[in-house]
Amino acid sequence: MKKTIYLFLFSVFLFACSSEQNELKQEYTNKQNLETSVEKGFLLSTNCPPGFERNENNQCVHRSMYNMYDSPNNAGVGGLQTGLPEIRDGFSPQQIDLGRYLFFDPALSKDGSVSCASCHQPNKGFADGKAFSDGVDGLKTTRSAPSLWNVAFLKRLKWDASTASLEEQMKGPLYAENEMGNTPENLLKTLNDIDLYQKLFQEAFPKKKEENILENEIYTAIAAFQSSLISLNSKYDQYAHGNHDALSEQEIKGMNVFRSFVARCAECHTPPLFTNQQIAVIGTPEPAGNPFDKGAAIPRKDSSLNGGFKVPSLRNIALTAPYNHSGKFATLEETTRFYTQGRAHAVPDSINLIVHWHIWEPELPEYEIEQITAFLKTLTDESFKPKVPEKNPSGL
Ligand code: HEC
Ligand code: HEC
Repeated sequence: MKKTIYLFLFSVFLFACSSEQNELKQEYTNKQNLETSVEKGFLLSTNCPPGFERNENNQCVHRSMYNMYDSPNNAGVGGLQTGLPEIRDGFSPQQIDLGRYLFFDPALSKDGSVSCASCHQPNKGFADGKAFSDGVDGLKTTRSAPSLWNVAFLKRLKWDASTASLEEQMKGPLYAENEMGNTPENLLKTLNDIDLYQKLFQEAFPKKKEENILENEIYTAIAAFQSSLISLNSKYDQYAHGNHDALSEQEIKGMNVFRSFVARCAECHTPPLFTNQQIAVIGTPEPAGNPFDKGAAIPRKDSSLNGGFKVPSLRNIALTAPYNHSGKFATLEETTRFYTQGRAHAVPDSINLIVHWHIWEPELPEYEIEQITAFLKTLTDESFKPKVPEKNPSGL
C-alpha cells in the first residue's frame, strides 16, 4: 500500500517536473522567437492603432466622436451629426501589425514584384494616381484603384459592388494574372519558407495549433490592417462636431450646394462617410478607345444596372485623382462639372442606360462648382496614416 502511495507521489512529482519543463521550454522558444524578431527589427505592436481602444480580449475597438450620434436604422440620412455605418473591427493589435507587413511585401505576388501597396500607396490616398494600375508581367487593370481609407465601413467592395468582405475581395488581386498573379499554393509556400513570417504568424495567432501559416490567417491579417485605415478627423469633421470656425466661408457655401436639393450630391454621397453604399447608374464616360463598362450589371446579371457603379466614399478625395472607375476625369472640378452637363450626356448613343433619377441638369454655375470643389478638399485627413515598414520580412 505504502509503495503504491510512494509510486503515485513520485509520478506526480515527475509529471510536475515535466510540465514545468515544458512550460520552460515553451517560454524559452517564445523568448528565442522574440529575440530573433527583435534582432531582425520585427516585433508586432501590442498597441492598437490610433482611433482604436484595446479591450480586455486584446481586440481593437473603434472609437470616434460619431459614435455619440444617433443613426436612424444606421442608414445615415444626411445630417452632419449622424452615426457611422457599422465598422469591421475587433482584430488584435498583432494581427493589424502583421497585416501591415503583408500589405507592403511584394513577396505576396508571383514574382516578388508587386505588393498591395504598389496600387494602394499611402502617399496617394491609398490609390496610385493612375487611371489603370500596373500589375505583374507589364499587365494593367481594367479599372482604377480606389482609395482604401475607411474601407472597414463598406458593405460592398469593388466598383461593381461584387464583393461583400475584405477577405473575399483580396483573393481578386492576389490571384488575378494582371495584378499579383499568384496562386494560393505558391503564396503559402513562399510565406512558409520564410522563418520570420512563421514567427510573426505565431505571434498574431497565438492559439494556432499548426506551425504552418494558413491561408485564412493571411486574409485575416490583411483585412485587420485595412480595417485600421480610418480618416474621420478632417476640417469637415471638426465643423460637423461643432467647431464652426473649421471651414471657410467658401467651403461652407460649397457644403451647402453639395447638400442642396439642386445639386443632390449628398443624396448619394451621404455624410458622414459620403456614400450611401448603393449602386447608381450615372453614365460616366470611358477613356477614348476603351469599351463601355457594364459595371454592376455583370455580377448582378441585371441589365437595369448596366453602367452602374458603387457610390464611392469621397473621404480623402483630393488625394486620389484621376476619378471614377475609369480614371477618366483628372480633377475634382471636371468630375463635378460632369453632373451639370446634362443627363446621360456622356453615354454613347448605342447604349441604353437607366440613369438614376438624382442625376439631372442642376445647371450649377461655375462659381458653385468651385465652391463644391473647395468643400471636397476639406474631406482630407491623413492623421492616422500608418507607417510604411522600413524593410519587409521577406527581405525583398
Ligand atoms: C495591380 C494593382 C492592384 C494591386 C496589386 C492590388 N489592388 Fe486592390 N484594387 C485595384 C483595383 C484596380 C481595384 C478596383 C477593382 C474593381 O473595382 O474592379 C481594387 C480594389 C480594391 C478594394 C476595394 C475597395 C473599394 O472601395 O471597393 C480593396 C479593399 C483592395 N483593392 C485591397 C487590395 C489588397 C488587400 C491588395 C493586396 C492583397 C490589393 N488590393 C492589391 C488595384 C490593385
Ligand atoms: C445618383 C447618385 C449620385 C449623385 C447624385 C452624385 N454622385 Fe458622385 N458618384 C456616384 C457614382 C456611382 C460614382 C462612381 C461613378 C463611376 O465610377 O463611373 C460617383 C463618383 C464621384 C466622384 C469620384 C469619386 C472617385 O473616387 O473617383 C466624385 C468626386 C463625385 N462623384 C462627386 C459628386 C458631386 C460633387 C455630386 C453632386 C454634384 C455627385 N457626385 C452626385 C453617384 C452619385
